[in-house]
Amino acid sequence: LPCLVAAIRCGWANRSRRYAIQVFPSLCAFVCIRNVGIGKAVAETVSEQGFKPKHILVTGGCGFIGANFVRYVARNHPDVHITVLDKLTYAGNPANIDGLPQSQVELVIGDICDASLLERIVPGCDAIVHFAAESHNDNSIFDPEPFIRTNVEGTMRLLEAARKYDVRFHHISTDEVYGDLALDDPARFDENSPYRPSSPYSASKAASDHLVRAWTRTYGLRATISNCSNNYGPYQHVEKFIPRQITSILEGARPKLYGTGENVRDWIHTEDHSSAVWDILTKGRMGETYLIGADGERNNITVLRMILEAMGKDPDDFDWVRDRPGHDRRYAIDSTKLRRELGWEPRHTDFAEGLRQTIDWYVANEAWWRPAKAATEARYAKQGQ
Ligand code: NAD
Ligand code: TYD
Repeated sequence: LPCLVAAIRCGWANRSRRYAIQVFPSLCAFVCIRNVGIGKAVAETVSEQGFKPKHILVTGGCGFIGANFVRYVARNHPDVHITVLDKLTYAGNPANIDGLPQSQVELVIGDICDASLLERIVPGCDAIVHFAAESHNDNSIFDPEPFIRTNVEGTMRLLEAARKYDVRFHHISTDEVYGDLALDDPARFDENSPYRPSSPYSASKAASDHLVRAWTRTYGLRATISNCSNNYGPYQHVEKFIPRQITSILEGARPKLYGTGENVRDWIHTEDHSSAVWDILTKGRMGETYLIGADGERNNITVLRMILEAMGKDPDDFDWVRDRPGHDRRYAIDSTKLRRELGWEPRHTDFAEGLRQTIDWYVANEAWWRPAKAATEARYAKQGQ
């Protein structure tokens, strides 16, 4: 058996995979479970058994979606140890994971581009769940460089570490890699939609998706990808649409709507994103992509008016501002594959209620958002937005 494992590691199995699977089926199954990358055979065996990680590395776990995921796992899977790797950029805040048991959640402050740091923290992990990214379209238009570095180079560094230490990899991506749909087009994105990113942000995410696929196919890395629609919920940075409007209203300023306000986003509560990622991590088929969405399409002006009304304001009490260059018109997700294959369903299906809870969270947590608000608005003002 040790000889066979060594041979597989040297690439022998790739050439004689079919023979090995026919002659030694149970041996192959054992090797698959031991995480040796031999492509499709790994996928089938692992998904039948279910994957039960004991120690996960969550990159970007102090950002909006990463922190909500860390909280979700800590709450629902207390036996899983979580190492958060986060550079704490302007978007990362260690307070986002405050109050979690120190015996379960550990924060390492560092850069995903730092290969020597990854050498120290990746061995011993069962899985990497990769959220870390530069995530804001408007920032990418202003300065694309950090997006290429973190989203492309950083993903490559993580993939290399995962390959070297044979660690299961889940890559968090976005529906924006598919570009946009026309407002009057009934189509929605699915796993076969062509890649057509429009902004430096979405192009960098598309590049990272391609890297993950290449590492899966070429090196047999055990990886999955999820592309999710727009998230909302607690801990989202005030630069993003929903928190920006809520916090502006709270400080007596007028919300700002880009362009005509007709652009459509497909909103999902971040907790539903977390449950979907957990299902894909533990039950997903290797090498597969799953789209995550909760049928939450609404145009921006509708969402803004819902916020204004929920906060007791006149629904026309906002300013129209300069449009975003290259502004994607509509995103919409068909999540049939995820629902059918893994049995996932969103829990937050009442958007008005989710929005009310999100507003309440920002009302109750002014100390959390206040420090970032002035600088964010100053940046927008410079861009005429
Ligand atoms: P965010 O900007 O709130 O958080 C990003 C986190 O990554 C921050 O904590 C930041 O400090 C950290 N980070 C940035 N560069 C880093 C680096 N080089 N090394 C280590 N850490 C670094 O982003 P988010 O909205 O939580 O998005 C998380 C992920 O989800 C991203 O990959 C994004 O593309 C994807 N996504 C976001 C949405 C959305 O609606 N926000 C939708 C679909 C997918
Ligand atoms: P955003 O939260 O930046 O997410 P994304 O660009 O990833 O979809 O923006 C959501 C939508 O809201 C997008 O169509 C741009 C629009 N928008 C505004 O109209 N006003 C704003 O102040 C912001 C930040 C965004």
